[in-house]
Amino acid sequence: MKALITGITGFVGYYLEKQLVDQGIEVFGTSRKVNLGKNIYQLDLLDENKIQNILKEIKPTHVFHLAGESNVKNSWSNPSKTIEINTIGSANLLEAVYKVDNGIRVITIGSSEEYGKVNNLKKITEEMSINPSNPYGISKAAVGMLINQLQKGFGMDVIHLRPFNHIGPSQKQGFVTSDFAYQIALFTKGKLINKQMKVGNLDAVRDFTDVRDIVKAYYLIAIHGRAGEVYNVCSGKGYKIKEILDILLSFTDKKIEIKIDSQNLRPQDSQFFIGDYTKLEKSTNWNPSISLTESLNDIYNYWLNILV
Ligand code: GDD
Repeated sequence: MKALITGITGFVGYYLEKQLVDQGIEVFGTSRKVNLGKNIYQLDLLDENKIQNILKEIKPTHVFHLAGESNVKNSWSNPSKTIEINTIGSANLLEAVYKVDNGIRVITIGSSEEYGKVNNLKKITEEMSINPSNPYGISKAAVGMLINQLQKGFGMDVIHLRPFNHIGPSQKQGFVTSDFAYQIALFTKGKLINKQMKVGNLDAVRDFTDVRDIVKAYYLIAIHGRAGEVYNVCSGKGYKIKEILDILLSFTDKKIEIKIDSQNLRPQDSQFFIGDYTKLEKSTNWNPSISLTESLNDIYNYWLNILV
């Protein structure tokens, strides 16, 4: 395998690069940022010609397409930008691959948000209907539909993954575990103004997997997955956001006041996401190995260290 990771400088990109390098794989990447390290190309996915040039130069066997807008709340503030980056950017990449070398395997990263409104705690399988309920989910669902048709129409070697919530050290603020852990770490260090922690919807149920497990699944599916297929990547366990907050609060012995802040609420929030990863497990033998508490503890310690 010779891998190209779009969005290599992002949260998941860092861990995926490490995973692949540890397997002895040669890894290249793209990033929107400038001043990049060795093997990293500056790329705006709206520039299809440049994507083609990069593919011609690197000649990857596999492309892991991570780049894009990953923040659901932000997608409400700028729906067209989200659709432009996530949907048009992915279409540009797929078109460039088709023109340069139709044999390249492309792994596109979708989301559980493609399933949208699910009205009960039943585990979501890949066969369930797609019914996205925010601009982010729509932008990802469109990519899933596109790869399906490109595989059927052009025989492209494309696989679409639907990761559920993935978390870990160095994830930016704007995602729930980092938002909570950062504020609790601030509090522990005596730096939290008003000694009051701001949170959003605590009733939503989400399925969390550590990013270090997620990238193992990405690697395994790139090897064992079938073209044109969709695979969930998740833990199969659901937790209320309130439970996540309670675990993180248990890491400090101080009492902290919790305030639900309207700024942290969304126009619509999907209530339940619990995934079924049987299909992935059957294809790859993958299972998550890092417990939620261990993951949350690592995230909390990451923020404690940052705040030194
Ligand atoms: N970010 C954030 N901050 N979310 C909060 C907060 C808060 O202070 N308080 C409560 N929440 C709730 C959100 O309303 C949501 O129900 C849940 O916590 C998780 O929010 P996020 O961590 O922002 O993730 P997400 O579920 O919207 O999206 C993430 O998971 C998707 C897969 O399910 C992202 O990683 C997406 O990129 C990913 O596709």
